Amino acid sequence: MTDNLDLFSAPVPADIAQPAIKIKALRDQLNHWAHQYYVLDEPTVPDAEYDRVFRELQALEAAHPDLVTPDSPTQRVIGAVMEGLAPVRHTVPMLSIHTETDTEATGAQAFDARVRRELGLTDADPAIEYVAEPKFDGLAMSLRYENGRLVQAATRGDGEVGEDVTHNIRTIRQIPLTLPDGVPSLLEVRGEVYMRRADFDALNERQREQGGKTFVNPRNAAAGAVRQLDSSITAQRPLSFFAYGLGAITPPAEGGPVFRTHFEMLQTLKAWGFPVAAQVQVAVGATELVAFHQQVGASRDALPYDIDGVVYKVNRLDLQRDLGFKTREPRWAVAHKYPAQEMATRIEGIDVQVGRTGKITPVARLAPVFVGGVTVTNATLHNLFEIRKKGVRVGDTVIVRRAGDVIPEVVGVMPGKRTGYVPNFQMPKACPVCGSAVVREKGEANHRCTGGLFCAAQRKEAILHFAARRAMDIEGLGDKLVDQLVDANVIRTLPDLYRLGLTSLIALERMAEKSAQNVLAALEKSKQTTLPRFLFGLGLRHVGEATAKDLARHFGTLDAIMDASVEQLLEVNDVGPVVAQSLHTFFAQPHNREVVEQLRACGVTWPEGPVAERAPQILAGKTVVLTGTLPTLSRDAAKDMLEAAGAKVAGSVSKKTSYVVAGEEAGSKLAKARELGVPVLDEAGMLELLSGQGI
Ligand code: IVH
Repeated sequence: MTDNLDLFSAPVPADIAQPAIKIKALRDQLNHWAHQYYVLDEPTVPDAEYDRVFRELQALEAAHPDLVTPDSPTQRVIGAVMEGLAPVRHTVPMLSIHTETDTEATGAQAFDARVRRELGLTDADPAIEYVAEPKFDGLAMSLRYENGRLVQAATRGDGEVGEDVTHNIRTIRQIPLTLPDGVPSLLEVRGEVYMRRADFDALNERQREQGGKTFVNPRNAAAGAVRQLDSSITAQRPLSFFAYGLGAITPPAEGGPVFRTHFEMLQTLKAWGFPVAAQVQVAVGATELVAFHQQVGASRDALPYDIDGVVYKVNRLDLQRDLGFKTREPRWAVAHKYPAQEMATRIEGIDVQVGRTGKITPVARLAPVFVGGVTVTNATLHNLFEIRKKGVRVGDTVIVRRAGDVIPEVVGVMPGKRTGYVPNFQMPKACPVCGSAVVREKGEANHRCTGGLFCAAQRKEAILHFAARRAMDIEGLGDKLVDQLVDANVIRTLPDLYRLGLTSLIALERMAEKSAQNVLAALEKSKQTTLPRFLFGLGLRHVGEATAKDLARHFGTLDAIMDASVEQLLEVNDVGPVVAQSLHTFFAQPHNREVVEQLRACGVTWPEGPVAERAPQILAGKTVVLTGTLPTLSRDAAKDMLEAAGAKVAGSVSKKTSYVVAGEEAGSKLAKARELGVPVLDEAGMLELLSGQGI
């Protein structure tokens, strides 16, 4: 281990151009990075950068085979066993997969051609059947079941020896602790432990608020959680799991199952209660592999978890056996990458942005960088504390992450030398949009503009929030239009929206008459709404969708909510002192009441009435989980109906779940419901339940 050599940020001096010296420098750098990654759980360079240096070393060693030594990073699979976790020798080694780095879909053709050649096939032979799967970006896990009980969970480690993390894996709800009767007495299931993006964002948000350590990416957060010595920490970090293969299993000769294909095996694992990704599919020949790569690539941002590529596997297990292995990699599988979700680039400046609640967010202006499939020029730095903690300054080379449709963020600084003094970033004292004072409340990590709706930035955000799909659902009122309307001073308050006329809209740049009419029609349509949507749309601090629904259910009318005392508000389900106070203060201010009155005067209306007149709360106290696609109802519509009847709609199945409503392609939640004996309904059954029958 050496100190930072900074090969990335500093050019390699001419005198280390000698192969032996350069090879040593590259190895030291890779070892240093690997130590930070695997042992300290604190990666300092993007994977793509590690891979680039790794390949550079591989190429140099290939050109100078006499310089290859057994301790080179290229000669071993990295993975240090952390102190404190017991080593586990894998009965069947955990292999890695050869990676096709060509991110073009054609990489699939290269693999298919190789497989055909190795199987001795000619063009006249039929296409090969593959299974195509997402390549989950988490960490590999081997789960050992004996007589249907989970007895051991181990990380991959170096492929031969991993770490015993059974205590932590038991906290993952998606992993069954017991299996149905009739499973083989010995069964090792291999798969990926990962963290969903939403869970990762929530975890980091929580950490940021509490001033704790934030994680670079979901993989890093998952790896850290899995390798805790104390499983109560793991339990607070929501992890998920997908099965993708098998380790040891009772052989057919001793009564074990006979699988003909990989796909058949995955279906069986699913039936036994393991989550298997819905995207997994059989693909015939290179053409279908190419199509799969494109199709999954196109939906990558919409997936709830990170993937860094796809994996193709020869489906027939007898052909897998024929193809065999090459060192530690099977010849029957290949990983095919997508563009990296983390890349390094330079910060050219730091600006601030003002959000809906007045939050001031520092934003890094970047030298353009291609990351997660798009060119990124801005990335959030979250708040001043994050900037200080990460030590970011203008001119630094930083790691930028962009995954899904989440805003790109700066996750760390690459160790590098600053050539001169660069002052630390300071928060502006005045809001850059409206000039109001910028403050940070005690105990808060964020700075805020105190301008309220006087601040145009906050006004824009407030209007966008009001118009959002889950609020007033005003189609076509997007950020470009809101920018124009606020900048032209056509709209100052929410009710101004409903006073818009054709002339003022057409007067805007790039607004044709037809689009203007569409906007007016959407505004008109939005006037018929519901109380929860309206309340949520007002954008009160701490009042999310669920709270808005609870309030509407409890009070029945807006007037009752506006006039409620803090004590009365506290009687509402899930409303604590902070929310109650925030609501009370909001409605105590005459100008806020004025906005509400004006909106009503413009014709915004919703069905309301005293609590007794509302739908009977026949599902009060029940918890329902929706999964899969229902034949006629959208997920939102089903949720609204259930909630209107008093049910709580939850995201995951537990012993406390009253019903699971399952549609087509229901996956692990359905399996879990069956395992726990939770009643499962289809859409018709749900409607019957809501009509008061069936309870
Ligand atoms: S199969 C013999 N399938 O990729 C092949 N691996 O280098 C064994 N990974 O860290 C692995 N998604 O955890 C397989 N659908 C998938 C995968 C997958 C992610 C990871 C795996 C390992 C690496 C393989």
